[in-house]
Amino acid sequence: MQLSDAIRERRSIRKFKTTEVPAALISGILEEARWAPSGGNMQSWTFYVLTGGPLEEFKKANLQKTLDKEAPSPDVPMSPALPDELRRRYMEFAESMFSSIGVKREDKEARGRLYQSMATLCDAPCLIVGCIPKSLPPDYPMFDLGLITQTICLLAHDKGLGTLIMYAAVLYPEILRKIASIPEDRRIIVGVALGYPDRESPLNHFERKRAALSEFVTWIK
Ligand SMILES: Cc1cc2nc3c(=O)[nH]c(=O)nc-3n(C[C@H](O)[C@H](O)[C@H](O)COP(=O)(O)O)c2cc1C
Repeated sequence: MQLSDAIRERRSIRKFKTTEVPAALISGILEEARWAPSGGNMQSWTFYVLTGGPLEEFKKANLQKTLDKEAPSPDVPMSPALPDELRRRYMEFAESMFSSIGVKREDKEARGRLYQSMATLCDAPCLIVGCIPKSLPPDYPMFDLGLITQTICLLAHDKGLGTLIMYAAVLYPEILRKIASIPEDRRIIVGVALGYPDRESPLNHFERKRAALSEFVTWIK
């Protein structure tokens, strides 16, 4: 696959088949992804790959906390309030996602069901959890983690797999810490749900937009 095709065709997958992904395929992706760049080549990332029984245990506990409406306590705080333009883009994305499955903004129950499906990783049979060291200021390690995360997603796409990068997987990091024995000196940053896309689901087909270059690029000539 051409790199430019992979970049354009990759999209977030929000409904997976439950079919297991062979462990060798997952390790092959990570093996290639480790060639992603990082500041000073420090590669401060660490990953935990959850499948099978431990993953089911995670989904159950994550769903329970979501149903109980427990206040999230992620290792990195989320933006409290969004500037107008970013909020507009976020709302536009949410509208496309919900309307793809016929859910109206005011239908809180149906929206809740989608968030619950995210708590169980949209049925993905694998979760890759990305961490950085707690001992460092998080900014650049998070930047590096972002680079390798996108590399993982592109490689997965190239191999016929789908991914969803997820805050929703790390809202209750203590569950992951316990199930995956993630040490206290790691900050749990993000999850990547991985699996075979359900190609029929409208959640995997709605239109996504991107800002025009004129909105975010300034040429100095
Ligand atoms: C750091 C990060 C966290 C994300 N967390 C979630 C999430 O919890 N749930 C979700 O549905 N999508 C999540 N996404 C996916 C974004 O919504 C998605 O990338 C964006 O809407 C652009 O769509 P695309 O990936 O299909 O191009 C996340 C993406 C990133 C980069």
